[in-house]
Parts: sequence; C-alpha cells; structure tokens
Amino acid sequence: MLTKILEILSDGEFHSGEAIAQRLQTSRASICKYIKKLNQMGLEVNSLQGRGYRANKVFALLNKQKVLCALPKQYKEKLSAVEFYTIIDSTNHYLKTMVQSEITDNLPEAAQIYLKSSKPGYACFADYQTKGKGRRGRTWYTSFANSICFSVVWRINSSPMALNGLSLIVGVELAKALVDLGIKDIGLKWPNDLYWQGKKLGGILIEVIGEDAGPCYVIAGVGLNLVSNKQFAQSIDQPWTDINQALNANEQSDTELLIQNRNQIASILLQATCKALDEYQPDKFSAYRQAWQHYDCCYGRSIEIVSPDKKITGIMQGIDEFGRLLLETSEGIKTFSSGEVSLRIRT
Ligand code: BTN
Repeated sequence: MLTKILEILSDGEFHSGEAIAQRLQTSRASICKYIKKLNQMGLEVNSLQGRGYRANKVFALLNKQKVLCALPKQYKEKLSAVEFYTIIDSTNHYLKTMVQSEITDNLPEAAQIYLKSSKPGYACFADYQTKGKGRRGRTWYTSFANSICFSVVWRINSSPMALNGLSLIVGVELAKALVDLGIKDIGLKWPNDLYWQGKKLGGILIEVIGEDAGPCYVIAGVGLNLVSNKQFAQSIDQPWTDINQALNANEQSDTELLIQNRNQIASILLQATCKALDEYQPDKFSAYRQAWQHYDCCYGRSIEIVSPDKKITGIMQGIDEFGRLLLETSEGIKTFSSGEVSLRIRT
C-alpha cells in the first residue's frame, strides 16, 4: 500500500485523499495514516483543504528494471538476485541474516536459490531504512528517497582473515564512480568514508561472515546522500554533504534531473561495488595501496584515532600494504586496523 501511495505522490502534484483511497480501494482514514508515516520517514507531504496531498518535491522510487537495465551484463551474470524494498530495517542486516540462516526454508525463494547457486553475489536496495547501521555500532540516518542505500553480499573463497583492505577497495571503486559522475575532489577518509570538501558524502559498512577455513560472505553496505533533508541533518553528528551539492559546485547539477537519475546513479554505484568485490584477490591489497592513497583526504593532516578506551593524536601518514593506517606519533609510527578504531580530523 505504501509503495502504491508513493507512486501516486511521486509526481509532486496534488491528489485528493478520496481519489487516492478510491484508486487503492481503501478508506481515506487509512490513507491519512500512511501520509503521517511518510512524514515521519522524512518525505514532506503537505495537505491542503480542498486539494488533497502533495509531496513537497518530485522524487523517484528505486526501480528494479531501471537499475538492472544500466548494469553491465558481466555483473548481472554474477548476481543471483537484486531485491528492492520501499522500507526495510537495514539492507546489511537483511543480507547478514540471510546468509547466517541455518533453516533456509523460511527464506524468500530468491535467497534459497542464491545459497545453493554458484553465483557469488546478491544485492538489496531500499528507499528507506528504519534501522540503518553505520560503522562501529552507530546509526546511519537517511530520509526517504533522498539517498542511495544498498548492500551486496559476495561469496569469497577465502578465510575472513585474508580480506585485508577489502573495505578500502570498495571505497576506491565508489570514489572512481563518483568522479565519473562529474564530482571533482572526491576524497576517502580512512578506512572508507567518502568525502567531499571536508564533509561526509557517504559511508561503507563491511561485515564478514564465515569460518576461519573459508569460504566467507562479505556484506558491503553503501549509503550515499543524494539530496539534503534538514530534518535529518540534525541527527548527524559530523559535517556532511550530498551528491547534489558536490555536483552543483561544478555547476553540473540540476536537482530535479539528479532525482530523476536516482536509479541510474544507484546502478553505477552497484556496478562499482560489484567490481570491487569481484576483482578482490585475498591477501593482495598492496596492489591497490597506491589507488587508495590517491584519494586519501587526510594524508599529512593532524588526526585523532579513537578506540573504545583511548584517543591517540598524530599525523596521518597513509596506509601500509595491508590497508592499516599509519600514524606518526611522538613515540614513532603506530599502525591501526579498521575494525578497532575510527579517525577524526583535527581542526
Ligand atoms: C558508516 O559510514 O558508518 C557506514 C554507513 C553505511 C550505511 C549503509 S546504508 C546501506 C547499508 N545498510 C545499512 O544498514 N548500512 C549500510
């Protein structure tokens, strides 16, 4: 029902509660309830006496055909399925639960097929997440249809221990894709935050499930801000930006056009993520080190490394051949792995 209401409202025009109710064969009260829910999700729907409901802007729902149509064949062939949800708790959580399931009979058919298939990948997109997950237990906030949120699970025939630097490689491929979209000055903040002009544009959450002996499942979750929403900006505890602003800076962006191209952008980002996961060779991170350092926006800067029990300050000196951060401190160079810490730029 919610998806159908969204399809009606996506044109940004007025629609009376009665007309929507009639079209969807339900009551006006039920439509009113859904409209309230949409406002809570960050989609502003105005209601005007005598005219009805109108979304305060045009928006584009994610659409399977459009995303897949723009995806190169070589990745379509490697993905067992690509699922789309209007609302989900978290795309990472969904895929993680799927690959961890011991009883698979309750899973959707597509998931059951994937678990038995030789295809390595399975992807899941959502227009809205109720419990988006960020790194290190943080919440990932987004508002409805204003961002791109998806996760890809990939089966890799190696031990989880050999996956050094994989999350950094996903960042490199996404950064390249954003440059191709026309965004200049894309940066990576170790380990894999996407930055533009000192502000966070997006983040990547990598989760790995598997036995020491392998194989394992890598879940790469990608969240990118497309267009700002002030209501949600308040929930975010760090400077952030969006693709719209980054493109506008080069006078390349027409916000409405950008929104209409949401599916195409989603497809490009899916492709970049699949490329990283597909080409990754366990224990071969050193081959990517230079590419990552090209986008490093903290190199030579004064930073703070934060772990649950302490903070260490120093100068960022790039990464080593395993993707670990190198920090120059008063006691010499220290190395940090991404699982244990996060990085803050000192101003
Ligand atoms: C971070 O910067 O902390 C990582 C953010 C990752 C967010 C994405 S949105 C899609 C996927 N599903 C989630 O719950 N999280 C990731």
